[in-house]
Amino acid sequence: MLAIRFKNNRLFYLDQTQLPSKEVWRECASLRQGYRAIKELQVRGAPLIGVFAAYCVWVAVKENKNSRRGSFYNETLKTIDYLQSCRPTAVNLAWALKRLKNILESKKHLDINAIKCFLLAEAEAIHRQDRELCAKIGKFGASLVQPDDVILTHCNAGSLATGGEGTALAVIYEAARRYKNIKVYADETRPLLQGSRLTAWELMKHKIPVTVICDNMAGYVMAQGKIDKIFVGADRITAEGDAANKIGTYSVAVLAKYHKIPFYVAAPFSTFDLNLRKGRDIPIEERSPDEVRKILGKVYVTPEKAQVYNPAFDVTPHKLITAIVTDRGVIRPPFDKNINYFLRRKR
Ligand code: MRU
Repeated sequence: MLAIRFKNNRLFYLDQTQLPSKEVWRECASLRQGYRAIKELQVRGAPLIGVFAAYCVWVAVKENKNSRRGSFYNETLKTIDYLQSCRPTAVNLAWALKRLKNILESKKHLDINAIKCFLLAEAEAIHRQDRELCAKIGKFGASLVQPDDVILTHCNAGSLATGGEGTALAVIYEAARRYKNIKVYADETRPLLQGSRLTAWELMKHKIPVTVICDNMAGYVMAQGKIDKIFVGADRITAEGDAANKIGTYSVAVLAKYHKIPFYVAAPFSTFDLNLRKGRDIPIEERSPDEVRKILGKVYVTPEKAQVYNPAFDVTPHKLITAIVTDRGVIRPPFDKNINYFLRRKR
């Protein structure tokens, strides 16, 4: 299952705002369109927006007819900064664009067409690498799962959120290949319903049994003893192991602690931000009040002018996390020491 395609030098994406009712593929033909696709969550999920934005740089430079190296360099830098300003929480976006910035810098003495080729090659390398990282996360994470396990997940951390099989969902896919009878509960994930629209759609396509619950049912389902493990993705993880993820993840982690259910975060190394120590330093995106006022932009579920607070992410403190599943292995507490060890030394 793919969320984006790059073919014959053209970039295509599955418009996720149309799922699950319609599978609409669109071409990203301009920088502006790429920016809007990310901003409006047509393309979403931390690793995927990094991969997609890298290709968007190519879409922009491909059309750039500038023949003066200096101005081509400045315009491309502006393009990269513009894309980076799109969504603030997922560090994968900044990480991927930094890689393109480094290419631009190191190749700036070359002919413009050669620079364009190097930028494209880097975008393709980021895409390929993300696919591999997902596969590794799946393998490491599946070692934590047992046959017959019932797993709860929040938001969508699958093929629709990455260049590969996902992070939390890659674990589930790999576990389902290894063991019989893996079942999933998917939180619907208000306000934009990534759980009920996207995770349920993805898992059903893979024929993995999935039950959708409203977010406020998670506690009751845990109290009933229906959940063995929780796997979620992340948008940014600090040096101490605090993890930002879709709003509602923190509540799930608190409930998991109370019910003594293991709570795992799955993420590639590109989701770690070792420049930040504490979760409170992570920039949290606030989105339009209308996302809460209306269901999927259609029916008002509050008075039209109701005051609304709409943070798109929250931060789960490391104390609530049992382990972090990465492409380099499963990191356990003490996180500050072990994250440093896994990320800086182990390859
Ligand atoms: O706002 P979204 O849909 O981009 O948020 C996505 C999430 O929070 C995911 O859980 C996270 O990016 C991990 S995806 C592998």
